[in-house]
Amino acid sequence: MSAIGVGAVAESYQKFNPRAYLQNNYMPPRANFTSEEFAVPWKLRCLADAFATGKICGHTLIDIGTGPTIYQLLSACDYFEEIVATDYLEVNRAEIQSWVRSEDSGCFDWSPYIQHTCRIEGKGEPWKEKEQKLKKKLKKVLPIDVHQPNPLGSSLSQPADALISAFCLEAVSPDRLSFDRALWNVTTLLKPDGHFLMIGALDESFYLAGEAKLLVVPMSEVDVKESFAKSGYRIHDFRSYIMPPSLKIGVDDVQGIFFIHAQKIA
Ligand SMILES: C[S@@+](CC[C@H](N)C(=O)[O-])C[C@H]1O[C@@H](n2cnc3c(N)ncnc32)[C@H](O)[C@@H]1O
Repeated sequence: MSAIGVGAVAESYQKFNPRAYLQNNYMPPRANFTSEEFAVPWKLRCLADAFATGKICGHTLIDIGTGPTIYQLLSACDYFEEIVATDYLEVNRAEIQSWVRSEDSGCFDWSPYIQHTCRIEGKGEPWKEKEQKLKKKLKKVLPIDVHQPNPLGSSLSQPADALISAFCLEAVSPDRLSFDRALWNVTTLLKPDGHFLMIGALDESFYLAGEAKLLVVPMSEVDVKESFAKSGYRIHDFRSYIMPPSLKIGVDDVQGIFFIHAQKIA
C-alpha cells in the first residue's frame, strides 16, 4: 500500500502546469518525427495501426484524462461521430477548448503531429482537413474523476463505443489497488464488446509539470496485462517501448511506454 491516498494525489495536481508538461513531453527531443525510435512517433504508430484494423469504430469515443493534448485522438477521428475529451483539471479542459475554438494564437502547435499522422496513415489526407475534422468531432470536454464509481457523474447517458486513455491511470493512482479500481470505474463507461486503447508509462515513479511533482504508480508489463484481465478484458495487442538514454531528460524517471488494445468481454 502507498503512504498517500487519492486525496493527496488530487492536491498535487493543483500545481500541474499544462505548458510545462507540453514542453517536457511534446517538444524535441521526445517529439522528433524523423524516426519511430523516438517516443512520440512510436505512440502515433501504435494508434494508427490499431485504428487501421477498422475494428474500432462507432458513435462515441471517450478519452479518459485528455490533459492538454490531442495527439491521441488524431487517428481515432475517422472512426467516430463524436469524441468526448475529459480531464480532472479545468486548466487542461481550457487548453483543449481553446485549441478546438482556435481562440488563442499562443495555443500549442499540434501541426507536426497532424502532418505526421496523415503521413503514416498513408491516405493522402491533407493535414488541415484532419485538423478541422477533429475540431468538429470534439464536441464535449467534460470534467472527470477516475476514482469515482461513476467518473463522469451524470454527464453521459449512453455507454461509449470505445475508450482511449494516455498516461492517466498510473499517473493519478497512488498504488496498484487504486489503479485497478480506476480501471474498473472507467470500464463502466464502455459498452460490452467495446474496445479500449491505453498508452501509459512503464516503471515510472514520478514526473514533473512545472512546480508540480506528480507521483506515479510504477507498472510493469505484467501488471498492466493482469489489471486488464481482472477488469474483464480480452487483450488483442500489447506493445512496449524502451526509453532510450537520449530521451531521459530529467523530467521523469519513466523506463518505457506500453500500448494495449483490449476489448471488454460482453
Ligand atoms: C500525465 S497527464 C496525461 C495527459 C495526456 N493524456 C497525455 O497523453 O499526455 C495525466 C492527466 O490526468 C489528469 N488527472 C488528474 N487526476 C485525475 C483524476 N482523478 N481523474 C482523471 N484524470 C485525472 C491530469 O489533470 C492530467 O491531465
